[in-house]
Amino acid sequence: MSRYLITAALPYTNNRPHVGHIAGAYLPADIYVRFLRQTGNDVVFICGSDDHGVPIIMSARREGVEPSDIVAKYRGAQDSAFRGLGIEFDIYSGTSTCPVHAELAQEFFTRLHDRGELVPRDTDQFYCPNCEQFLPDRFVEGTCPHCGTAGARGDQCDTCTRSYEQTELKEPYCVTCNTTPEIRTTRHWFFKLDAYRDRLREWLEGREDWRDTVRNYCLGLLREELPERSITRDLTWGVPVPLEEAEGKVMYVWFDAPIGYLSFTKELFESRGEPEGWREYWESEDTQLVHFIGKDNIVFHAIIWPAMLMGHGDFVIPANVPANEYLNFGGKKLAKSTGNVVWVEDLLKDYPADLLRYYLAAVAPEGRDTSFTIEDFITKSNEVLSGVVGNLCHRVFTFANKTFDGRVPEGDPSDPTTRALLDKIGEARDQWKSAADGVRLRETLGIVVDLAREGNRAFDAAEPWKTKKSDLERCAFDIRAGLELVHALAVLFGPFLPTASAKLREAFGLPAELGPDSVETLGSLVLTTGAELGAPGVLFPRLELPESE
Ligand code: 2FM
Ligand code: ZN
Repeated sequence: MSRYLITAALPYTNNRPHVGHIAGAYLPADIYVRFLRQTGNDVVFICGSDDHGVPIIMSARREGVEPSDIVAKYRGAQDSAFRGLGIEFDIYSGTSTCPVHAELAQEFFTRLHDRGELVPRDTDQFYCPNCEQFLPDRFVEGTCPHCGTAGARGDQCDTCTRSYEQTELKEPYCVTCNTTPEIRTTRHWFFKLDAYRDRLREWLEGREDWRDTVRNYCLGLLREELPERSITRDLTWGVPVPLEEAEGKVMYVWFDAPIGYLSFTKELFESRGEPEGWREYWESEDTQLVHFIGKDNIVFHAIIWPAMLMGHGDFVIPANVPANEYLNFGGKKLAKSTGNVVWVEDLLKDYPADLLRYYLAAVAPEGRDTSFTIEDFITKSNEVLSGVVGNLCHRVFTFANKTFDGRVPEGDPSDPTTRALLDKIGEARDQWKSAADGVRLRETLGIVVDLAREGNRAFDAAEPWKTKKSDLERCAFDIRAGLELVHALAVLFGPFLPTASAKLREAFGLPAELGPDSVETLGSLVLTTGAELGAPGVLFPRLELPESE
């Protein structure tokens, strides 16, 4: 048993989750957490909203309300979309509402400051004379200094994903009023990131189990000098900088946000009545800290945040950062800003969570960008879930109920046909474990679907509708093996399809909860001969293609 601290990127609270967010970070995280728990590990699963960013200030401005109103408005929608999909965090907090967040973020800042890891600099910043304010990050746009894309954000380019200082932007303009900003001097604190370059390189070189898309990208960045990162801002919404001479300034949102993982863990354990319990997760070297994120967050989670943790010194550094690429819709990146978006809460009105989970896991952009379409979702759900998995479950249960009086028929593990099928189950379980362990979740899902296909083939080959008349023992052995395979599906689909898995387990008269025994015993005769069988009902309804408009 190992100890895991799993996080999913904290979404900005000016947005509801769309399918790109879900397939990118939240669903893979939930699947992985369920897998870890099912295989006997000790896991806490942390998430919450990222409340302090400029995006939230901008949304508030657009709507004529306070940033805290925006947070209040979206937090519930985020939480219910996640729940609706069966994504179950141990805590869903928020950086502006978590009672210990500001204090912890300030302690973190102070520690780095006292250790000489931060340096104050008088900097030139864009200032909009019309809005009478400095223009941090997304208040200013311009042309990306690296790839030349117009309309690039002030801190990072969406096209080439490179980040930079805002004054490097070419042809800048204030996003509020379009005025060309002037440059003024203001003091900010910078994190001396380059001081960590060798340690980061050494650490990443040892992480051969990471995705190449993350590791190689970061190692590439580490070949060049890492620029100092400004971690303070001239804003009023955020965590105040804990230095007298920095009055009126707040922390840069990307400084306080990842500290949210820490504060929410602390809040979780306080709510459990174990105020010191969080330490074991953050301070023991044998904790596996894993951050699920989308690719636009790689630099922050695999370079800057680990360097912050190294600079602080008390906490574990990430064991893995399984970042996904983008899920596209209609050939383009999903984004609220362009209107190219599919909201989770809309999908949940029409489709059951398990079906969406299946499809979003099947097309998860693990190694490359992938695309989402409603037509493909419906086709795949019907073909695979109804056609392969549901069909097998229905055939086997119906046959067992009719022919063997609704009881688990006798089996024989040394019967060669049974043995062959049990061996396939055992092999599938081993492959499932190693793929999920390596966070190759699409592969993991494919292994279980293949096992269901194998089940259909075996059922067809056994022809139980014939043997029930000619050789009832043969028929019993084959149906028993089929039931064992269906039960294995209930266990192995557990992380992906929690509702169907629970229904199946209940139909076998077993608790829905899946523990390590349920996994370890696969490949032997697990069911009890003579045990009463229920009926799982319709596990996966067939979906109709929506009428085209
Ligand atoms: O990209 C985003 O949506 C950020 N709000 C993610 C933050 S993750 C973490 F560091 F908090
Ligand atoms: Zn302006």
